Amino acid sequence: MSKVYITTAIPYVNGQPHIGHAMDYCLADVCVRYNRLIGNEVRLQAGTDEHGGKIFKKAEELGKPVEQYVSENAKKFQDFIHSLGVEYTDFVRTTDAEHQKRCQEIWKRLESHIYKAKYEGWYCTGCERFVTDKEVEENHGVCPDHQKPYEQLSEENYYFRISDFKEQIVRSIELGEMLVLPDFRKKEVLKLLDESPDVSVSRSVEQLTWGVPVPGDESQVMYVWIDALSNYLTVLGYPETSIDDWWPAQAQFVGKDILRFHAIIWPAMLIGLGLPLPRHLVSHGMVLANGQKMSKSIGNVVDPMEVLNRHGIDGFRYYFLRHIDTFADSDFTWEKFDEAYNNELANDLGNLVQRLATLASKNNFELGEAFEPVIPQEYKELMDSFEYSKAMDYVWEKLQGLNRKIDEEKPWSLAKDGKKEELDKCLKSLICELLNANYLLSPFLPNATEKVSAVFANPITPPEIPLFPKQ
Ligand code: MSP
Repeated sequence: MSKVYITTAIPYVNGQPHIGHAMDYCLADVCVRYNRLIGNEVRLQAGTDEHGGKIFKKAEELGKPVEQYVSENAKKFQDFIHSLGVEYTDFVRTTDAEHQKRCQEIWKRLESHIYKAKYEGWYCTGCERFVTDKEVEENHGVCPDHQKPYEQLSEENYYFRISDFKEQIVRSIELGEMLVLPDFRKKEVLKLLDESPDVSVSRSVEQLTWGVPVPGDESQVMYVWIDALSNYLTVLGYPETSIDDWWPAQAQFVGKDILRFHAIIWPAMLIGLGLPLPRHLVSHGMVLANGQKMSKSIGNVVDPMEVLNRHGIDGFRYYFLRHIDTFADSDFTWEKFDEAYNNELANDLGNLVQRLATLASKNNFELGEAFEPVIPQEYKELMDSFEYSKAMDYVWEKLQGLNRKIDEEKPWSLAKDGKKEELDKCLKSLICELLNANYLLSPFLPNATEKVSAVFANPITPPEIPLFPKQ
């Protein structure tokens, strides 16, 4: 048994959770449950990113004290995570006093790589990112992701000497010590690293007060990304608590839009602290709505609660883990969501359970000895390489194959002809195959698979209401 640490990106709390935020949680949760299945002890971190100009401005706009605003929204994210059936073991809010204190310790330990200089350039508050002149020119002065003009900054702040770490980061990525997934993102990251200058890591309090104070310099607060990235360590109690049992993380889940921070600044911080890099940096694609990026200005942001209410937690997890590709951008539409629920969850799985349980119970069939699950090599390889949507495809093919097998073997004819021994053999093989598929599905659909297991416990009892009523 190994100890395994898994992390999720901590969302900004300048708005409500949306369906895109669910990706980190759902993927990480599959990783957690799979690791537990194979016998590992797991810690899952989650949290909220509560500092920075974007959040401060939003609270001001709403006329709310910023502390109250972030607390209200942090709570919404916690509720949201629970409503997805995701159970974190550790939660961090970046405004927690403990986090801030630890973050300052981290800063102090990096001080030999930090220097003060004048920053004269651009910033996007939407991205919370310092932007190069080249990018400003290419985007004609407007951030394409936030549709807002870049702000010109001219202030004295602290810089982090990325150049001290570049070679080592490149080597670790190339050697796969920190595996950047999917592979095509690795090339992007190496290119970005090559071009990456030293990064500004603080803001003047004249511009922004809502941040962790730089230790020993009251005129500056830390750049929100230094504060945010530190969460992965501070939540474990670093630096005053030993984290050797848990660090390096087995997998860190992030969206492709924030991979650059996790592949440049983050490894530089870790190397500076003398810590190993995470084993896997897994970057997922974006959830689009009707083929478009979700945005408040377009008005196409999908409310996750509406999605959850439509087909429940299993419907939600099924769609986002199978039909939203693990690595590529994928579309959410209500039509596709309904289709997947009705044709796949309700038909392929729900009907299969109903058919087999009814046959078994009508013919007084019981499984007898305990069923022993097996993890097939192909599934294991997909899971170990974080190809979660493909692993679900693999299991789904098994379920569809089972539906075909029932039609071919016609157990009801065996029953009619009184061939009890043959019938029992046939049902046993079909039910064991179903239970194995159900076991392999358990990291994805914990609720549904528990219900299926209950149906086939002694005595086998067909569900009175279908597991997934058609809608
Ligand atoms: N606060 C930073 C993360 C700091 S981690 C040390 C941030 N917050 S965010 O709220 O903008 O995004 C949080 C996570 O949600 C990121 O992994 C991001 O990629 C993901 N997503 C936000 N919108 C998304 C989609 N539309 N689709 C998929 N994931 C998306 O970045």
